[in-house]
Amino acid sequence: MQRPNYPSGKDLLSADAVSRFDLDDILERAERHLQEEEREKAGLPPLQPPAHRRRPKVIAALFDQRSTRTRLGFQAAAARLGHQSIDAYDTDRGRMGTSTGETLEDHIRTVELYSDLLVVRSHLEDMPYRVARLSHLPVINAGNGADEHPSQALIDLFAIRHMRGAIETLSIALSSDTRARFAVSFVRMLRLTPPRRFTLCCLPDVPINPAMREAMTVLAGLGTEIGLVHDVRRTLDHDVLSIQMQDMSKFAHAALGSDAVDKEKETEPFTITARKILDARSDTLILNPLPRFSELDPSCDSLPNAGYFRQVALSVPMRMAILERMLSGVPWTGQAAGRSAPPP
Ligand code: CP
Repeated sequence: MQRPNYPSGKDLLSADAVSRFDLDDILERAERHLQEEEREKAGLPPLQPPAHRRRPKVIAALFDQRSTRTRLGFQAAAARLGHQSIDAYDTDRGRMGTSTGETLEDHIRTVELYSDLLVVRSHLEDMPYRVARLSHLPVINAGNGADEHPSQALIDLFAIRHMRGAIETLSIALSSDTRARFAVSFVRMLRLTPPRRFTLCCLPDVPINPAMREAMTVLAGLGTEIGLVHDVRRTLDHDVLSIQMQDMSKFAHAALGSDAVDKEKETEPFTITARKILDARSDTLILNPLPRFSELDPSCDSLPNAGYFRQVALSVPMRMAILERMLSGVPWTGQAAGRSAPPP
């Protein structure tokens, strides 16, 4: 088999793979899928007749880490497009990595004969890059160790645009461990549509991850006003707050609902609660890539600020757009489209 020369733009391995042109294209595709979904729910005819397809494509999921949204989300998106998905990494039944097993090379050479696109999640940062080098098929990095989660960043930008409008006009805050892969991809992706203001809320005594610092420097160079705070209440004047757990904590492991947590969460600086939002009279849109830990109190769920389950719903049209684009061979044209390894 003739393999294409690497680098190429076939893979979505990093937020850096996406150019402004790609972002505009993917947002437009996702919006179209969303409109079609809403028309179908309203009993209206489709804007565009479904494309005639000779046979469904097969999406192979290679996940060696747990996932609910990314795994099921890509499976659901594939099904909505009329495609199918297979689980290509089953630790109980598969052969890869077992004593009677086979190498990654043989595994990928086999899987690619059954499928048309590979979605890879791994605790190993280099795994999606290795798979992308081994296979001629397009590869989506669905989260690799502490490196990146670029499809989540596309979902986050789509959700913000859909719920709050043009990102360039907005103030956006991020409260997270700065090493979180979703957070790094999110801030890297923001360079394509730099917000008016960006504020990082993080632990005061933990160094900021160099990848995050670099992404914020890029935003500053593009004219975004950058801020740094250490209490989530100081983000409640922003248009959007994307929140995830900080590396703290007794809190991350505490059982929500216990008396101790209930008392502490109102004073604990990295937990958002309904009381904090109401006290600040804030209309900040709250997003969370989920799963949530103690950083996002369920008391927020009934407030109009809560955007995180809408964010999950909006992930389906975005994942449909990503699959549609990559399955039809449209390349990513960003600066790292063909990077063959994660940055050191
Ligand atoms: N947001 C996200 O990546 O969720 P999962 O870990 O459930 O896939």
